[in-house]
Amino acid sequence: MTIRTAFTYQARAQRVVFGAGSLARLPEEMHALGLCRALVLCTPAQRAQAEQVAVLIGPAQVAGVFDQAVMHVPIGTAHAAREAARARGADCAIAIGGGSTIGLGKAIALDTDLPVLAVPTTYAGSEMTPIYGITEDGLKRTGKDDRVLPRSVVYDPLLTGGLPLALSVTSAINAIAHAAEGLYAMDGNPVMDLMAQEGIRALAQAIPALHAGSLDGASSARAGALYGAWLCGAVLGSVGMALHHKLCHTLGGSFNLPHAEVHTVVLPHALAYNGPAAPLAMERIARALDAPHAAQGVYDLAQRHGAPVALRDIGMREADLERACDIALQTPYPNPRPLERAALRQLLQDAYEGRRPLR
Ligand SMILES: NC(=O)c1ccc[n+]([C@@H]2O[C@H](COP(=O)([O-])OP(=O)(O)OC[C@H]3O[C@@H](n4cnc5c(N)ncnc54)[C@H](O)[C@@H]3O)[C@@H](O)[C@H]2O)c1
Repeated sequence: MTIRTAFTYQARAQRVVFGAGSLARLPEEMHALGLCRALVLCTPAQRAQAEQVAVLIGPAQVAGVFDQAVMHVPIGTAHAAREAARARGADCAIAIGGGSTIGLGKAIALDTDLPVLAVPTTYAGSEMTPIYGITEDGLKRTGKDDRVLPRSVVYDPLLTGGLPLALSVTSAINAIAHAAEGLYAMDGNPVMDLMAQEGIRALAQAIPALHAGSLDGASSARAGALYGAWLCGAVLGSVGMALHHKLCHTLGGSFNLPHAEVHTVVLPHALAYNGPAAPLAMERIARALDAPHAAQGVYDLAQRHGAPVALRDIGMREADLERACDIALQTPYPNPRPLERAALRQLLQDAYEGRRPLR
């Protein structure tokens, strides 16, 4: 790939409010959008943060707290949340949490057009995308619809102080994956290329500081990581993803592996696979990581900071690698390097064993 000389750039209508303490601006955000009654969504573990939101926006503006968000948005949970929103007269949903909670907000919006305001507390990036996923009978159906894109996103690093170190690191590398694939996206554009490089840089700088103990929500590491997550999420929402995201979707969905960890383990190998076909993207990723090579740079970033580097350490069985390879080859998709079965199978073996990429 060379520098892009022809492209399409589609801007998206979203407000982004960023900064320590910006949660206090949620009432203003509701007002700006003409909204006056919110159902607050969260996981059971983040109930206290959702209650904090309810207090902040005031009893007259709260339609209740729905605290049943779980990973992969099971259809039953989506129905229950939609029904709670309808029965309590909500005119919007506020999702406070990671990709699972924001995903639940999107599932409500998909059928009801209820606007979503997102308050992200991980680095997964769902708040910046029109992508949704709903799981029914063990199958995750994903799609794109502008109605699910959160209208307003409030990034408050103070809310990320409780994110455990291990999830902080893997979630940050999950975000880097969006930007890395964005840099070799066939439908990419120079704006997203800039955001991707800046996003990787911010996250690669934040990870060592988080690992060294700067976990407090008021630290510059937390602010930097959330800033990077915003940029990388915007890339995910704007341009097409390739081999890495498809593999992670397969591994997460079919073998029930944890989301951020799978991204962390697979990314170095997906970059090593695509490297020869996307040299400029690799150069940019390496520069943003401040490392000599993109694939090795991501691997070292994970390993140095205590993140998993092998699929076998996060619940994958070696006996399932063959099937994973078959599934990954089932539906063709754009990728800088053509999908070759033997090379893909080797990629999965390397990821399973946690080998450091050769380049
Ligand atoms: N549609 C999209 O564009 C998109 C993008 C990224 C991820 N996703 C989806 O999001 C899900 C993964 O999201 P995730 O990685 O953010 O994890 P998550 O939302 O499942 O959160 C993991 C756990 O961490 C807890 N948690 C989150 N923030 C916390 C905080 N600040 N302090 C303490 N605990 C906190 C949550 O309550 C949860 O128990 C997957 O289902 C994935 O497919 C979707």
